[in-house]
Amino acid sequence: MIGREQQGKNVIVRATLLLFIIMGFFSMMAYLHTYNTPAQLLHLPIVINTWTFINATRVAYRTMQSGGVTERIALDGIEKGCNWCEAHPDHCDFTVGYGGSPNEWGQTTLDAMVMWGPTREVGAVGYMKRVKPAISVARKVMERTYHTILVGDEATTFAVEMGFEEEDLNTTRTAEMWREWKAAGRKPNFWKGPHNSTQGVTKRKEMNEKPEFGRWNHDTIGMVAIDQQGNVACGVSSNGATWKIPGRVGDAPIVGSGAYCENEVGGAAETGDGDVMMRFSPSNRVVQMMKGGMHPKEACERMVAEILRYYPNCSGAIIAVNKQGQIGAAYMNLPNGFPFCLQNSNMKDAAIITIKD
Ligand SMILES: *[C@@H]1O[C@H](CO)[C@@H](O)[C@H](O)[C@H]1NC(C)=O
Ligand SMILES: *[C@@H]1O[C@H](CO)[C@@H](O)[C@H](O)[C@H]1NC(C)=O
Ligand SMILES: *[C@@H]1O[C@H](CO)[C@@H](O)[C@H](O)[C@H]1NC(C)=O
Ligand SMILES: *[C@@H]1O[C@H](CO)[C@@H](O)[C@H](O)[C@H]1NC(C)=O
Repeated sequence: MIGREQQGKNVIVRATLLLFIIMGFFSMMAYLHTYNTPAQLLHLPIVINTWTFINATRVAYRTMQSGGVTERIALDGIEKGCNWCEAHPDHCDFTVGYGGSPNEWGQTTLDAMVMWGPTREVGAVGYMKRVKPAISVARKVMERTYHTILVGDEATTFAVEMGFEEEDLNTTRTAEMWREWKAAGRKPNFWKGPHNSTQGVTKRKEMNEKPEFGRWNHDTIGMVAIDQQGNVACGVSSNGATWKIPGRVGDAPIVGSGAYCENEVGGAAETGDGDVMMRFSPSNRVVQMMKGGMHPKEACERMVAEILRYYPNCSGAIIAVNKQGQIGAAYMNLPNGFPFCLQNSNMKDAAIITIKD
């Protein structure tokens, strides 16, 4: 005989089981919703990129909308979009492409990366000289070699072998900047103490205690795109930090830092003080957080909060988009907030979105 108490317990057990089944059903639905949302809900294609470089957004969007150049449509969007900044550095704060961010020797060098979400293929160039469309060379590294990153003069050699033109990246603008910087005692710089270099001796009293990172010194175009087929690509192009020590490679060509994307989840890209930010693999981390179901905005905010715990003065920003077409961004130590660009098929034109505290 089953006592009243026992029956009561059975009811509770059954109710609990039922509850678990219902909860399981809903969490499975939520899971399926996260990973299999139909394309028509997403307003694809979609592209986001850092800063106000809205023509790059438009070019990326139009490239995808018109069906791309190759079958990797989102990647074509990334390449053509970033190419726009590389060809028009004056419209991209001189932080991408030629004619900007000279190093201690007055040279402009380029960093770039692309990633294809369906296969996780990556190609990148670092500290590349004398070739303008760096992101296109990065794509060649990905598609024509088994390597991931080529750097320096040999990246240039590779680019020339691939048919790219060799050109000066310095201009009268960078030459003038460099002269002024030398005349002002080579401040700021990235050394931690007095040092001798080929440029001469720098004494303690001539040093900037902290290098100045900010809007104009240190940024990048970082871009994430999802094409009509739901494929995700991401990429970055940058001319690095102004007055960098020759040889310095920034975060832009470092996969997981400059950008990262997974077809099942979405993608993220970053901009800012790359020397510090690359220590956290922020773009990869944001994508992994989104994979766990986190909204892109919250993922970016958590990542920025973590960096600030270790480097309270680090300046920069992260943008992200998930497979549902939800976007998010977060920034740190940018006094005027952080602008980024968005275009999707629900919008007549690209828009600049500025986040501020
Ligand atoms: C975008 O490109 C057009 C020319 O195609 C140019 O007139 C305009 O100034 C550019 N806008 C920005 C914000 O760079
Ligand atoms: C760029 O720098 C190189 C090496 O210093 C120099 O030969 C060249 O004339 C410069 N080009 C421009 C446009 O200033
Ligand atoms: C730099 O070189 C000078 C001699 O030219 C030497 O006295 C000094 O110790 C050197 N400083 C450093 C930091 O190496
Ligand atoms: C951050 O900047 C403040 C103000 O310039 C300075 O006092 C502080 O030492 C800096 N902190 C670090 C960790 O660099």
